Amino acid sequence: MPRIDSETVAKILDAADIVEVVSDFVHLQRRGANYIGLCPFHNERTPSFSVSKSKGICKCFSCGKGGSAVNFIMMHEQMSYNEALRYLAKKYNIEIVEKELTQEEREQETERESLLAVNEYALQHFKHNLTETTEGRNIGLAYFRQRGINDEMIERFNLGYAIDKRDEMLSDAISKGYKEKYLLKTGLVGKTEKGDYYDRFRGRVIYPVSSISGKIVAFGGRVLRSDKAGGKYVNSPESEIYRKSYELYGLYQAKSAIVKHNKCILVEGYMDVISMHQSGIENVVASSGTSLTEGQIRLIHRFTENITVIYDADPAGIKASLRGIDMILAEGMNVKVLQLPAGDDPDSFSQSHSSTEVEEYLESHEIDFIKFKINILLDGVGNDPIKRANVVAAIVRSIAVIPAEISRVAYIKECSFTLGFDEKILANEVAKIRSQILEQEYKRKKSEEARHIKDEQAKEENLQDETASQELIDAVTPGSALVNEILKKDRSQQLKSFEKSILRYAIKYGMGDFKYSTDKDGNAVFCKVIDFLQVTMQQENLRFSNLKYQKIFDEVVLMHEAWSKDRQKFEIQALNRRNEMWVDGETQIRNEAQTLDEITRRENELKAKCDEYYIKLMQDYDFNYVERRLTSSQDDDLRNISTELVTEKYQLSKIHTKYARVPEERDMLSELLPRAIYELENEILELDIKDLNDKIKAECANSTPDFGIVEEYISQIKNMQTLKMQFARHMGDRVVTPTSRR
Ligand code: CTP
Ligand code: MN
Repeated sequence: MPRIDSETVAKILDAADIVEVVSDFVHLQRRGANYIGLCPFHNERTPSFSVSKSKGICKCFSCGKGGSAVNFIMMHEQMSYNEALRYLAKKYNIEIVEKELTQEEREQETERESLLAVNEYALQHFKHNLTETTEGRNIGLAYFRQRGINDEMIERFNLGYAIDKRDEMLSDAISKGYKEKYLLKTGLVGKTEKGDYYDRFRGRVIYPVSSISGKIVAFGGRVLRSDKAGGKYVNSPESEIYRKSYELYGLYQAKSAIVKHNKCILVEGYMDVISMHQSGIENVVASSGTSLTEGQIRLIHRFTENITVIYDADPAGIKASLRGIDMILAEGMNVKVLQLPAGDDPDSFSQSHSSTEVEEYLESHEIDFIKFKINILLDGVGNDPIKRANVVAAIVRSIAVIPAEISRVAYIKECSFTLGFDEKILANEVAKIRSQILEQEYKRKKSEEARHIKDEQAKEENLQDETASQELIDAVTPGSALVNEILKKDRSQQLKSFEKSILRYAIKYGMGDFKYSTDKDGNAVFCKVIDFLQVTMQQENLRFSNLKYQKIFDEVVLMHEAWSKDRQKFEIQALNRRNEMWVDGETQIRNEAQTLDEITRRENELKAKCDEYYIKLMQDYDFNYVERRLTSSQDDDLRNISTELVTEKYQLSKIHTKYARVPEERDMLSELLPRAIYELENEILELDIKDLNDKIKAECANSTPDFGIVEEYISQIKNMQTLKMQFARHMGDRVVTPTSRR
């Protein structure tokens, strides 16, 4: 996907109102300064999902999920960062300016993006052919018309036509700068054994296949004349952007209807989906002729638990797909089955009936899958005991995969009745198979978990798997790389909460000004939060031991420039808003005031009010700037960590709680910021002193201790303790020295 120009990104993030964005999915109610509703990320009865309009952030206090508007959309709609931005742009009617790419950059674009770009080109080309060329209109469009497809569906499903010429699209694409390589990889162009290139879809009508987020990942082409060589359908081959078993035709167009009806209808083919849509049934997807895969079922399960599978009446097809349905059951979904009248498929049926007739038929003919399966399997079995036993075994297998016990019990009853088998025997059989399934599942999960934990550890500790055993041998030697690594990590862990609190101030208040000190005339001297933190840390030679924290902190420091540019733009808006307030107030005064004195007095009051309003707007802008950007950052670390920091219910440290009053944090920064730095330094000193004490102990445990070294350690400790005292004094009376920590 082409990248979005950074100015557009800023516009989108500024426009996105978290309350509006969340409200599209969650019913919110006002609660004080915030809004509250049922968390969409887990099941709950009492609302714990809180949305802060001013902070632009939402957060579930029960499951912990939440974040900025972008984050919310990413999670809720299962979109990538870019997709979420595009979603918001659409919602707020912001025109997306794509980043202009130079030749060099274009080459650097990832393969995936190139393949998608080629497909997007092809999509437009095929669509254009269908309606804007004579051949397309006479052949392609005429075909769709003959099949009863209207213009709205042609547009919704992006139907197209490929000109019947060996290299019509190939040469057009090349002339527009698309690379042969990608045309081949997407399969739009094929290559003969002799090495000649040809348009794969030539002379066919085109059904583009969209991903769940609407990107074109593949095409299907249907032949129009039966005398033509090759199959009825030609499809794009699998590629980096198209894994057939993870896509469902029509899902992009159907997903909101699936959620709305809490049901997904599964059909076989392209035309089935389109014709059903045309008759008003939009929660339909197709597995495109192949049997359903687990990946596809999971896709559907993101939107609903209920699937209805529609079959043509052809019995062979039905038997073949029974296995696919067991997988749906295993996913814990409810499956119903619907048979159409003999000779009909969903396409022909919806073309030959009115919308209401189709709807009514669907409602009244759905039957539960297990009953359906019994009927199908029993067909023609008669009284042959062995055949009957086989049927029972097959049914038992279907029941055993159902996760919910209550459903299994109900089905066992039902089967015992229909099949004439003892309920207990069936239940036993089901239990046996179920335990086999669970065991397999357990083993699979364990090995998956083990792999996952290993991955996480490798990431966390930066230890390479292959060298781990060597390092363990090293580990017995104090001072070895691994021991140092472990000590460093340990230390970093101990410092974490202190570093976190500094970083949190940087993110939460970054560009805001706080009263830093007073000059000799008693005037307040202001300083930016991030400037204070940066300069102080530099002076004190402090860095974050947690590398991710340091990275984020550096990022905040770097935001200065962007902030001052953005601020200028915002200043104009703020001035305008101040002016509107002034004009409104003026009109009111003029209408109401009786005397000149009253006018003057009220105008002065109004002016003060407007100024205050303006100053507040600017202050809030500065204070919220960093938080707003970081919690919407494209970088996963930046976004996730900063979201976590600003949303977590802030744990007051022991020192803080000594202050019984907990006024607005923002008004206390002149005390809180130096204290946070002091606390970190203090902790570092304490750890250093502890290290030295350990060293002294170790030295004294030697058979021949070197008392010279011990003395040296002791003097170092003394120095550090003096330093600690100085810190404490430097912080003034405000600092209450901690008597105990942890
Ligand atoms: N299919 C395919 N490749 C094939 C045959 C079928 O991808 N060679 C897929 C298509 O998605 C097709 C579906 O399987 O829509 C069902 O195939 P079929 O019943 O043969 O086609 P119909 O959908 O009925 O297509 P039409 O009505 O246009 O003949
Ligand atoms: Mn058909």
